[in-house]
Amino acid sequence: MKSQEIRSKFLDFYNSKQHLIVPSAPMVLKNDPTLMFTNSGMAPFKEYFLGNAAPKSTRIADSQKCLRVSGKHNDLEEVGYDTYHHTMFEMLGNWSFGDYFKKEAIAWAWELLTEVYKIPKDILYVTVFEGDKEDGTSMDTEAYDLWKAHISEDRILKGNKKDNFWEMGDQGPCGPCSEIHVDIRSAEEKAKIDGKSLVNEDHPQVVEIWNLVFMQYNRKASGALEELPAKHIDTGMGFERLCMVLQNVQSNYDTDVFTPLIREIETISGVAYGNNEKIDVAIRVIADHVRAVAFAIADGQLPSNNGAGYVIRRILRRAIRYGFTFLNQKDPFIFKLAETLSHQMGDAFPEIKKQFTLVHNVIKEEEASFLRTLDQGLLLLDKVIEETKDKEIAGKKAFELYDTYGFPLDLTQLIAREKGYTVNEDEFASEMEKQKNRSRSASASETGDWIILDDNSTEEFIGYDTLKSDIKVTRYRKVTSKKGGDQYQLVFNKTPFYPEGGGQVGDKGYIETNNGDVIHVLDTKKENNVIIHFTKNLPKNIEDTFTAVVNEEYRNLSASNHTATHLLHQALRTILGTHVEQKGSLVNPDYLRFDFSHFSKVEADQLEEIEAFVNARIKENLPLIEKRAIPMQQAIEEGAIALFGEKYGDDVRAIKFGKSMELCGGTHVQQTGDIWYFKIKSEGAVAAGIRRIEAITNVAVGNYFEEVEKNYTEVKQLLKNPKDLIKSVSNLQDENTALKKQVEQLLKDKAKNMKGELKNQLQEINGVNYLATKVDLDPNSIKNLLFELGGEVDNLFVLFATAPTKEKAMLTCYISKDLANERGYDAGKVVRELGKFIHGGGGGQNFFATAGGKNPGGIPKVLDKAKEYIS
Ligand code: SER
Repeated sequence: MKSQEIRSKFLDFYNSKQHLIVPSAPMVLKNDPTLMFTNSGMAPFKEYFLGNAAPKSTRIADSQKCLRVSGKHNDLEEVGYDTYHHTMFEMLGNWSFGDYFKKEAIAWAWELLTEVYKIPKDILYVTVFEGDKEDGTSMDTEAYDLWKAHISEDRILKGNKKDNFWEMGDQGPCGPCSEIHVDIRSAEEKAKIDGKSLVNEDHPQVVEIWNLVFMQYNRKASGALEELPAKHIDTGMGFERLCMVLQNVQSNYDTDVFTPLIREIETISGVAYGNNEKIDVAIRVIADHVRAVAFAIADGQLPSNNGAGYVIRRILRRAIRYGFTFLNQKDPFIFKLAETLSHQMGDAFPEIKKQFTLVHNVIKEEEASFLRTLDQGLLLLDKVIEETKDKEIAGKKAFELYDTYGFPLDLTQLIAREKGYTVNEDEFASEMEKQKNRSRSASASETGDWIILDDNSTEEFIGYDTLKSDIKVTRYRKVTSKKGGDQYQLVFNKTPFYPEGGGQVGDKGYIETNNGDVIHVLDTKKENNVIIHFTKNLPKNIEDTFTAVVNEEYRNLSASNHTATHLLHQALRTILGTHVEQKGSLVNPDYLRFDFSHFSKVEADQLEEIEAFVNARIKENLPLIEKRAIPMQQAIEEGAIALFGEKYGDDVRAIKFGKSMELCGGTHVQQTGDIWYFKIKSEGAVAAGIRRIEAITNVAVGNYFEEVEKNYTEVKQLLKNPKDLIKSVSNLQDENTALKKQVEQLLKDKAKNMKGELKNQLQEINGVNYLATKVDLDPNSIKNLLFELGGEVDNLFVLFATAPTKEKAMLTCYISKDLANERGYDAGKVVRELGKFIHGGGGGQNFFATAGGKNPGGIPKVLDKAKEYIS
């Protein structure tokens, strides 16, 4: 059965059980402060489990793109070494939100596996939770009894908390689970060892394929469990593993999910899969990683130097270096796999097809730039090896290479080994540990449980219509920071505060108590669909009604930049073309930053046109037309632009100013005239095919022009208020060029005169015409003078010292080529050693070298010592 069919059969089956089938949510999470990537099928539904929002249907099923690169579930460095772990994988899942529970979940899973997919019952095992003393939970006899109806008891195994109790995080909904494992070993193997003993033992052919989680508890910050009022089902089946079983192969990489990629890697590298373990690992790493990277980019996450972008960069770099080391790929090649991936997955996940060009270009550019870094790192490693005396490279050095050049230990070891060196691994590990500790202590904070004041209250955002409102705190919690500076997080029954989202920063402001006490709101964010207000203190009489007031100026300036962002987007699509898509946005009161797909630099005249376009819309004073809850389909039909990789609900909010219409949750001005003026400050590249524009509006433009005017006035004053400033500057430039020429000529003349004098000063020592002296010339003239002298005098050895300033000294050494070659003199060595006296260093070739330093006081010593080289 082909993987496409396996996927559709799953969705069709749950559709027949009245489940709503939804598309995969993006793999990259944009507005979730607790999670960077969707790491399991249930992550997009967290808010439903927490009761913060109601699902569209109480039964949902999908195939979700997931990414696991760290934490208890996976470790990036392990992927590729086995046949069944991945960074990116698909999780087939079905959910019940307070609807059906264990009975149906178990019966349907069994029906699907054994009747639809026709997996023989005698290769399946199931596990149930045995209970846990510390948590005070008992064995899940309910699940045990339900399983008994389907499978013989000797195939039902009991498992502990580690394997059979699933938790969403440190806190929140959790519960016992039943896993379904499959034993695909040969009959011969099975006769030797009972499959039962291999369940959950990391055997590559006895693997878990499905996890059925029975959410019935809530884990509190104290660690205690409380029963959930409504019980839920969360199941997750590893799609690639299921394909392995149904396609009768022994490795996920032998399924048609991976074989097209592997064939392509073989074609590109000319190396076959299946003959050599090291090469196979490399091929698996690349086939796995390209999926993670390509889908992340398609979802709008570009490789970068921090956060989620850094995770993506690390994954790609790991693939590059495996290709570099084991497949001998010294040029970019992974980008070529994007096409195979797009053919293969484009039907189930259209984003990979639509974003093909971007994915292709970004990977290519990222590869090229990392390969350049690898080259630099290799040079550095050569130097380290050269300086290593005892054949063992210090772990500290290896760590430096890892930290700065992304050189992992195994690559350093590999290169070192080729040259007969080893690396001190213990020292490397200890450096790594030190770094981990440093980052751990930087982020140490503890979040307490919510203290619920009003359980029934729902929360409403009223900030589109008002900036001030009477509110009540419905719950709060304390965040204790190990570095000091505790904070509180407050949730209100209704709030005018806009939470950070869609690139726009969260509102600031305050809440005021009846007796005039003011508590500042430092920031506002959304977590699992709940709007959280960050404060330093907790109001007294927390159950009172307070007045919540948003900082109006902060909000209005953000709104001005947000509306300008929409107009800029429209301008770019009008002037550059409709290939322009938003790839990132930041909107705060001070400025706006907009990243978009475009293949070349935006030229100065285009920037002018873009600026003029936006300012024309501002001048038209277009009114805001806001459609607050219209069906997504209707909005798209009306021409609204939706962003790639964004998660939208069924009903969306559309923002329209004239012909600009976007799906957007942000805050905007009432009419474009409120923006005042739009000014682009910079344009540049962020990644291959991605440009960035930074711009300002409103008072920031006023400040900017004031600053420009101030500078202009100062320059004018400096030039004694000429009538025509431009002409005056241009005259100055001409004058400067003429003077430079004159100085050059004077220096040349001076050097000529000096040449005769210097020739007279030459001393003959051991057949060498020697001179070491201090001169007062610029570097260029020194060089010319030395080469001229060299042309006129044989066997020359000259060292010049200069002190252009009180803190600067320079040495230049010239040795006739014949002399240097025959007698082994080395100008580079001379300046390196003498450079020490002027507190500096340098180098060059054996016949000509220079050094610079900070200590002119050392020049007499240099001149003294120079003679030692020839005598
Ligand atoms: N949340 C569970 C898991 O990730 C089941 O979907 O295994």
